[in-house]
Amino acid sequence: MNAWKDADRDHAWHPYTQMLTAPEPLGIERAEGVYLYTSDGRRILDGISSWWVNTLGHSNARLNKALARQAEKLQQVIFAGATHPGAAELAARLAAITPGELDHSFYSDDGSTAVEVSLKMAAQYWRNKGEENRTLFVSMTNSYHGDTFGAMALGGSPVFHANFSEFLFPVRRFDCTREESRKNTPAASLEAPSDGSLEEILQREGDKIAAVIIEPVLQGAGGMILWPSESLVEIRELCDRYGTLLIADEVFTGFGRTGRLFACEHGPIVPDIICLSKALTAGYMPLAVTLATAEIYNSFLSEDRGKTFFHGHSYTANALACAVALENLDILEDEDILGRISRIEELFKERVQKLESLPAVRSTRAIGSLAALDIEVGDSAEGGYLDAIGPRLYAEFLERDILLRPLGNVLYFLPPYVITDDEIHRVFDAIEEVVGGL
Ligand SMILES: Cc1ncc(COP(=O)(O)O)c(C=O)c1O
Repeated sequence: MNAWKDADRDHAWHPYTQMLTAPEPLGIERAEGVYLYTSDGRRILDGISSWWVNTLGHSNARLNKALARQAEKLQQVIFAGATHPGAAELAARLAAITPGELDHSFYSDDGSTAVEVSLKMAAQYWRNKGEENRTLFVSMTNSYHGDTFGAMALGGSPVFHANFSEFLFPVRRFDCTREESRKNTPAASLEAPSDGSLEEILQREGDKIAAVIIEPVLQGAGGMILWPSESLVEIRELCDRYGTLLIADEVFTGFGRTGRLFACEHGPIVPDIICLSKALTAGYMPLAVTLATAEIYNSFLSEDRGKTFFHGHSYTANALACAVALENLDILEDEDILGRISRIEELFKERVQKLESLPAVRSTRAIGSLAALDIEVGDSAEGGYLDAIGPRLYAEFLERDILLRPLGNVLYFLPPYVITDDEIHRVFDAIEEVVGGL
């Protein structure tokens, strides 16, 4: 046993982990491409992109160089009253590539903070405009927007957030039809109850609503749920008709995950605010951006200092992270990464469809670099995040040196874009074998 593993066991508290019963964590000493290398000599395929962040593979040569170059120049500087070339250039690049005219970037550190920023921006936008009654947020059932208090309120997951329910502000939730081949009823995943359709909610309380927030086209932690892109257009139209803001949380879907650079392009629609993180730095550095329209940004411009956006984090616009994000954008463009994702999607659709005939498979779906299946076997009939089948599958795939981390009874494969066709087939062969044996 390495000494550092003892230190981990004695002192490190891991996320989403029952520290009493969880198996010993994988000890990863280095990683390259799609592989994680353990201290005991194993090579494990990273089938979940290290919690959905790693897109261009581990230890990408161009990103490594960009990071090293930046480390020689500037690592971090306060972003209030100071700026630096990387943050400025990245804000301009993001304004150019995001949908519509989302021209103003506010930096933070991770997906949850990007969402918190979006909520505070929306709330203060209405206040700055004198519409102080607009204090309600609307989210989708099965949504997940992060683990900070505002983000938890939006998600309202009985599994993840029940211990904090007294602290969460009220939110209205609407359902969206799922788009997937389905043999049976939906798995209960993060379900908090619905308050009706979005139109009903807006009809009832439209003048109180500050913003509607969605995970466009693909809901991640709620169970890798795919919903129809036509609904994106409907949601945008409803927000316009009732005069409320639309926030697109693209923390998970941004930067190619669904086959387009941003999932909003499937509509296409333009949100008023977009939240980005995870693949923004291709899994290298914690960084997030919340981009807003000029309409929102301008409402904060005033001689009245009370209209200032009083929000910020110590590491806002970290220079190392911005340098990596810029190199990531260059790679996305000049290495035709979207072309590669479209090939991955083709293969995924082909292979995932074949899994439908397995008795334990209830439904399947694939988009961009995601393939997912809902599983139902005798002891997992309850479904949902706490379904016993999740840990069982996790262990079975690890035995085959593949890291897949099911969301309860939802098994998904979400590799870095640099995975080869052969590696994709290897993982699907393993899925066929493991799930076929259930
Ligand atoms: C759509 C979405 N929003 C927000 C978050 C929260 O991001 P983070 O874990 O970086 O705080 C996640 C994380 O999975 C997510 O999928």
